[in-house]
Amino acid sequence: PVLVIDFGAQYAQLIARRVRELGHYSEIVPHHADAAEVATREPLALILSGGPASVYEPGAPALNPKIFELGVPVFGICYGFQLMAATLGGSVANTGGAEFGATPLRAAGSSRLFAGLPEEQTVWMSHRDTVSAAPPGFQVAAATPNTRIAAFENPERRMAGVQFHPEVRHTEYGQAILRRFLQDIAGLKPDWTPSNIVSELVTAIREQIGDGYAICGLSGGVDSAVAAALVQRAIGDRLTCVFVDHGLLRAGEAEQVEQDFVAATGVRLHVVDAADRFLAALSGVVDPEEKRRIIGREFIRVFEAAAQDIAASAPVEFLVQGTLYPDVVESGGGANAATIKSHHNVGGLPPDLRFRLVEPLRTLFKDEVRAVGAELGLPESLVWRQPFPGPGLAVRIIGEVTRDRLSVLRRADAVVREELTAAGLDRAIWQCPVVLLADVRSVGVQGDGRTYGHPVVLRPVTSEDAMTADWARIPHDVLAHISTRLTNEIPEINRVVLDITSKPPATIEWE
Ligand code: XMP
Repeated sequence: PVLVIDFGAQYAQLIARRVRELGHYSEIVPHHADAAEVATREPLALILSGGPASVYEPGAPALNPKIFELGVPVFGICYGFQLMAATLGGSVANTGGAEFGATPLRAAGSSRLFAGLPEEQTVWMSHRDTVSAAPPGFQVAAATPNTRIAAFENPERRMAGVQFHPEVRHTEYGQAILRRFLQDIAGLKPDWTPSNIVSELVTAIREQIGDGYAICGLSGGVDSAVAAALVQRAIGDRLTCVFVDHGLLRAGEAEQVEQDFVAATGVRLHVVDAADRFLAALSGVVDPEEKRRIIGREFIRVFEAAAQDIAASAPVEFLVQGTLYPDVVESGGGANAATIKSHHNVGGLPPDLRFRLVEPLRTLFKDEVRAVGAELGLPESLVWRQPFPGPGLAVRIIGEVTRDRLSVLRRADAVVREELTAAGLDRAIWQCPVVLLADVRSVGVQGDGRTYGHPVVLRPVTSEDAMTADWARIPHDVLAHISTRLTNEIPEINRVVLDITSKPPATIEWE
């Protein structure tokens, strides 16, 4: 792999993603990994990430100098660039030349790193310290008005570095610069393609499961579907999928799993219709955390019973999970942030089931999961499904969850999804929860009559990773159309409101 050495900024994952977008498999390692550890992973190249520290400050993260002697190509970004300078015999100083944001850069005409790119370009900067002398053997490759050494390179040693952030979109030629390094200076060939990913993962799954049996919980979402489809391709009918229909899905979603997914994969599916059971358990409950706890608990019970049924006829030893790479990186990352909501994945791991885990997606980012899903022939609607919370519509009904309220919300949600799709906005927005304020009523007038109905809230957001979000600027005519349809077609709804809060301070979902 291309190893991204993480110096503690939030950029390491972004760098790893960009490298993969260029067709090179990448992984993230913490900066305290020693040279031997790095060497055993047989890296094709190293990328040193940015970080918040100052290289000479006591306790600043350093890199074992032996890492530079492995003969592996190295690319430094921001802090990583300064660290290369400091470690390889150049120097770094606080010259007062801080730069933040979009900055004009001039590349040296002779540079290998910038060859074929415009000499003048805009890059994204965020630094106080600067490299004051390049290491011996390195040539300065670019400068900005405030930074004499904004990039350097040593193509013979297959090393280079930049002060700016090529991984962010604000850097005009960021991807091109990364490609120049990886494919020209380091000489790597791009081979990380969806079809190669599928064949590698299928081989690995076969190795792990051997001639054993596995089960997989389907949630209706893309991760569990792609994980199941991969395992199905690897072991065929020795995989059984379990779909617990908790009755809290949106219109058409259960059918999507029961029909479209099965048609596309030929997977053996065990459906449990548990809607009544979930509704009964949720009766009278209004507290959001209580709802989440109940749904989680019921899900595990139903799943466990189904697993036992299946295990009665086959020696099931493996449980397939749709864990993604960001979860793997983050759970290795130490202290966790405060729990804002008790997220859980319906289709997730019942804690007391003794299965061995199969996690075929644990090296993949979300966009790669979608690409793999498409490669496996899964339906578009599933592959491009927007995020949807495991507890489903229950956390979008503010108040008690009842069958009637679910029906109102399901119809409203279907209208909104239809209109956003018709307006071509599906990929422009991250998701658009539709929330029913079931305990709020307001007066309206329709025809000649007074109405006393409920508001629904539209919560369209844009986001990169759901950690932060902004409200999406949906064109007014699209909003107008949605509002008209909702109030015309759903008698219980007489008001439509738009949520214009970012996250933070609000969360994406209302509960
Ligand atoms: P919040 O509301 O915390 O949501 O800003 C962030 C993202 O997570 C989704 N979400 C969930 N996903 N299980 C899930 O798998 C859950 O319990 C859950 N709750 C929220 C939400 O839709 C958004 O994309």
